[in-house]
Amino acid sequence: MLRGMVKKYFIKTFGCQMNVYDSNRMANMLEDMGLAPAQNQKDADVVVFNTCHIREKAAEKVFSDLGREYEIKLERAEEGKDTIIGVTGCVVQAEDAEILKRAPYVDFALGPLRYYRLKEVVEEIFNKRDAKLLDTEFSAVSKFDNLPENKSLGGCSFLAIQEGCNNFCTYCVVPYTRGVETSRPVSDILKEARRLAETGSVELNLLGQNVNSYHGEDENGKERNLAYLLNKVAEIDGIKRLRYTTSYPADVDDDLILCHKNLKKLMPYLHLPIQSGSDVILKKMNRRHTRDDYLRVVEKLKEANPDIGMSSDFIVGFPGETDENFAKTLEVVNRVKYIQAFSFKYSKRPGTPAAVMDNQVEEAVKKERLAVLQELLFDYQLKFNQGSVGKVMPVLFEGNGRHKGQLTGRTPYMQNLYAKADISLINKIVEVRVNGASMNSLSGEVL
Ligand code: SAH
Ligand code: SF4
Ligand code: F3S
Repeated sequence: MLRGMVKKYFIKTFGCQMNVYDSNRMANMLEDMGLAPAQNQKDADVVVFNTCHIREKAAEKVFSDLGREYEIKLERAEEGKDTIIGVTGCVVQAEDAEILKRAPYVDFALGPLRYYRLKEVVEEIFNKRDAKLLDTEFSAVSKFDNLPENKSLGGCSFLAIQEGCNNFCTYCVVPYTRGVETSRPVSDILKEARRLAETGSVELNLLGQNVNSYHGEDENGKERNLAYLLNKVAEIDGIKRLRYTTSYPADVDDDLILCHKNLKKLMPYLHLPIQSGSDVILKKMNRRHTRDDYLRVVEKLKEANPDIGMSSDFIVGFPGETDENFAKTLEVVNRVKYIQAFSFKYSKRPGTPAAVMDNQVEEAVKKERLAVLQELLFDYQLKFNQGSVGKVMPVLFEGNGRHKGQLTGRTPYMQNLYAKADISLINKIVEVRVNGASMNSLSGEVL
């Protein structure tokens, strides 16, 4: 325990849901140490930046934000307050020792597989102010075995069931920053799921970089797949809604498709990234699926549950992408009619094969293609949202909305919904009649 006044912490999270999960675990650890959450960075004695390396912009933002944090640290020093600055996440893994050179005022840097050491590291720095620490080992010990119990921080929680990725898509840094794919044992996951339910979660989102290749062992040492795990988690009474993300198209098996037919708790929404609609580009990306493989999976999913809504990630301007290749991506969008999607301009990542491929696409072309793709995607998203008007949907309220007396929550389709509602409804699932729609959100009336 730390002596003196109650210290405060602030965690800034960049990147994907895995980082959100990791940040929650770190918050748990800091609170176990007696630290309280700070309202803002200026108020925090310990600041942690949990970082993302996926695209150049994401990584560069970390350094500019760190620079600002250093200014805050200097201002606080003038008031006689000490500040510990830590960096965790994928930028640490990728930059390694460089990070302490580029941002020498950083006190500690822990890789995504090493943050379980947070408590020990922060204590050491509190006690011995000149200590600096960097740990980016890819160790054989699982971080999950070294973390204190997970505590729910809201009605909807992420639960990491897997870490790392073996797919090595040629544009992607994840296999290098998170290491090879490892699945957690079934019993550990069920224990964490029960604990999250007991502490207030009603929705669980099972996480992995390639979550549907899950193959953890059960108590008898038998390998089990994601479908088995979903069925097991669904048996927990307190859990009313289930999701899983992110899936890899080539690894969607028939068991999983059956879950979308039979498992009532599984939400009718699936994020299944295709990245490109062109087989030529998919091959260069080292994706293990063609356009047709992907469309067949979507078809089977729609047969299993005709109400399913699809979402995807897209990359435009991958090296060698022609206008023709790009047109194939638009074709897929028109076929699948995504209800939501994320799209990005290809970004060169050091050390990945695509970064040194010939025929890199000009920035202006990438920009134009992204605009064209997004216009189409946004149009489908708006149409889907407009189609929700008049329907009654179960909404899980998550927090306060933009206006007073208003809450914000999520529909089964991950749509953001705003409604006038009492704060006692936060973390509850409530029937709401949808009465308005825009591209980004719905409005509704609690029944
Ligand atoms: N494991 C998930 C998510 C990976 S990262 C999956 O396989 O789908 C999230 C998204 O970022 C990817 O789906 C991809 O669309 C995008 N992305 C990854 N690397 C990128 C790069 N170098 N440039 C642009 N977008 C990238
Ligand atoms: Fe990256 Fe591909 Fe793995 Fe997704 S599946 S994390 S895009 S390497
Ligand atoms: Fe970013 Fe690492 Fe996630 S690079 S997207 S935080 S796995």
